[in-house]
Amino acid sequence: MATSALSPLRRHVALVGFMGAGKSTLGADLARRIGRTLVDLDDVVEQTSGRSIPELFGEGEARFRELEESAAGSLASGPPKVFVLGGGAVTSARTRSLLKAHATTVLVDADVDTCWERARGSDRPLAADETEFRRLFDERRVLYEDVADATARDTADAVLAAAGVHVERGALGRLGELVPGESEVALVSDPRVAGIHGMDAQLSLGHRLRQVHELPHGEEAKTLAALDRLWQDLRLDRTGVVAALGGGCTTDAAGFAASAYLRGVDWAAVPTSLVAQVDAAIGGKTAIDLPQGKNLVGAFHWPSRTVIDPATLETLPAEQRREGLAEVVKTGLLAGKPLWELPDDELVRRCAAFKAAVCLRDPHDHGERRMLNLGHTFAHALEAAAGYEGVTHGRAVALGLLAALRISGRDVDIVVEQLDPKPVRVDRDRAWAALGRDKKVVGGELRLVLLDDDGPRVDVPVPADDVRHALDGLIAG
Ligand SMILES: NC(=O)c1ccc[n+]([C@@H]2O[C@H](COP(=O)([O-])OP(=O)(O)OC[C@H]3O[C@@H](n4cnc5c(N)ncnc54)[C@H](O)[C@@H]3O)[C@@H](O)[C@H]2O)c1
Ligand SMILES: [Zn+2]
Repeated sequence: MATSALSPLRRHVALVGFMGAGKSTLGADLARRIGRTLVDLDDVVEQTSGRSIPELFGEGEARFRELEESAAGSLASGPPKVFVLGGGAVTSARTRSLLKAHATTVLVDADVDTCWERARGSDRPLAADETEFRRLFDERRVLYEDVADATARDTADAVLAAAGVHVERGALGRLGELVPGESEVALVSDPRVAGIHGMDAQLSLGHRLRQVHELPHGEEAKTLAALDRLWQDLRLDRTGVVAALGGGCTTDAAGFAASAYLRGVDWAAVPTSLVAQVDAAIGGKTAIDLPQGKNLVGAFHWPSRTVIDPATLETLPAEQRREGLAEVVKTGLLAGKPLWELPDDELVRRCAAFKAAVCLRDPHDHGERRMLNLGHTFAHALEAAAGYEGVTHGRAVALGLLAALRISGRDVDIVVEQLDPKPVRVDRDRAWAALGRDKKVVGGELRLVLLDDDGPRVDVPVPADDVRHALDGLIAG
């Protein structure tokens, strides 16, 4: 049960909302962003009946609703897709229960004036009279809110919903409702985060809280010894949920613990560091370390929910924030947008949505997800050459981004301005050897992630000499 019925990877995404809210446009954009097939139920009804919607309405709304309900039956099966439902589809109790069982349902939010402006004068049968339109809007709103798991104003919101990610200032105070299901929760965090945010999390979990467990601090959490203690301490049954509250070390370790405990229980990630909110807690990779290297034992185990409260970043030490900023700049470069300029809440929302979309397209890292390694081949080499001491991952990534941009023939000003990377003092040959262990040299070339004018490209062959030259440029002395 590494993927339970609650796993976002197994669920359809269904867009609901009033006519004119923009469901079709958003649905098409979402399907493209997360690499899923788009099914517009109005189109299905027209195709199967051989009639247009106005024609069908001409025969009476009841007939149309019958066909619509029958088309919605495809929510019960098939690989996960993006469904766009007509404005009135949720009036069917059967469709509402299919949505609850099989879909992450997203309410595409728009106010009634916007909807009316878009729908008036169209051939939509229910958009003929403004007073009636407004009455129907209020009536339907209740149904949408009842069935929706999330609300979206734009594609980023919809991508996050599809990935099971909820970003909201103050969300920590609503954990009890946001962690899906009704079952008991084991709250796992590190000593520092437990001291700062643990009590809020416990209170908001309320009666669902079964137990509290502390993992050791930092990378010590990602050890077999720490997981052994956690596994022995866990008191959950198979319906239970592990909630990981903390930075990337906590989410990596607790997520992996959940993937194997009782052969896999659900988990919720509640990331509190910038690294975890924009990177570690998104995408379902969980792992612990071995003495031989980092993240060598792990599992793909997508959290049934990721709850991100950007307010928790206010207690994050400045040096930890800088760690996260390196991944933010990486994400912005990949997205081709200056995401690092945004205020915290929006920065986190947009970065998390970018990573979530890439990971939904390639959840098991077979191809394009590798773009997220921009700069990381160099970063890992520098970290290894430093013996994983003295060079933090964020600093190494900042330098790695410099090298990747230089090889891509691109301007490095943004990286310098935002991250101010200073060369590190490590042994050049040791760094080069480490890079070779990470990436084999074949025919005098290595394959790297580079950045083109149209965006990232993975597996680009680069002459080994150029890579070595770029690596040397990151090393002092
Ligand atoms: N699974 C993935 O896809 C993925 C991606 C990136 C990184 N990671 C992993 O994430 C780990 C690094 O994550 P990290 O940098 O968050 O490390 P971390 O979990 O050690 O947290 C960093 C420090 O910040 C503290 N902290 C966290 N939130 C805080 C808050 N709100 N207020 C005050 N202090 C807070 C922690 O106690 C810790 O001291 C690495 O092990 C890395 O391998 C995993
Ligand atoms: Zn990284």
